[in-house]
Amino acid sequence: MRKDQIYIIGNWKSNKNRQEVEDWFQTYFKSKTKILSQTVTAVVCPVYIHLDMSHTLVKKLNLDLKLGAQDVSPYKEGAYTGEVTASQLKELVEYIIIGHSERRKYFGEDDKLLEEKVKRAKEENLKTVFCVQDENTYVPESVDIIAYEPIWAIGSGTPDTPENANHVIGIIKKKTENMKVIYGGSVTPENILSFISMEHIDGVLPGGASLDPLKFFKMVDQASTL
Ligand code: PGA
Repeated sequence: MRKDQIYIIGNWKSNKNRQEVEDWFQTYFKSKTKILSQTVTAVVCPVYIHLDMSHTLVKKLNLDLKLGAQDVSPYKEGAYTGEVTASQLKELVEYIIIGHSERRKYFGEDDKLLEEKVKRAKEENLKTVFCVQDENTYVPESVDIIAYEPIWAIGSGTPDTPENANHVIGIIKKKTENMKVIYGGSVTPENILSFISMEHIDGVLPGGASLDPLKFFKMVDQASTL
């Protein structure tokens, strides 16, 4: 089935040093054998300190890639040591992942805080990718893309079944009036098509598989065939 847009959003988490980031973009550049289909939006999300260099490399190599951040401050500019604001990120990225289950688990992020992060991102017209763990997770207003990521499927090598992911995403879409909803949790080049060929699934959020530029390229390439 033809979809108007498929999102492939690579979440690099706390991985890669400067050299590894540079190598990733150079290898991705070399592997690019054909122009990305109009219907596929490919995004990668490095750590904050590598966003500037990533931005430069994407431009220099003329890559069909967008950049995203993995988090954003709930505050505007000011005395908030260690935080990076939406207005600062806007100079480098188009997308922001908010509410990943690792942020909820390890950094105690709750619905109220996440709502503030979405507000700050939207004030700067950034596209928000809001992670939910199931169909009952609270979703703030004005989110752009929802990522359904069952906790047990993340980094486990055991993805949800495409049928169940499609079912849960169907419920989320009904609740949120047909927002774009993608799936995340152990997505690989081998299983990507089984997810994105499902009726309700608008893309994927791969973590581990996005760290390898050839695997990421393979996923983008596969999505382009849909
Ligand atoms: P994974 O991570 O693909 O390594 O399971 C997905 C995620 O946490 O976003």
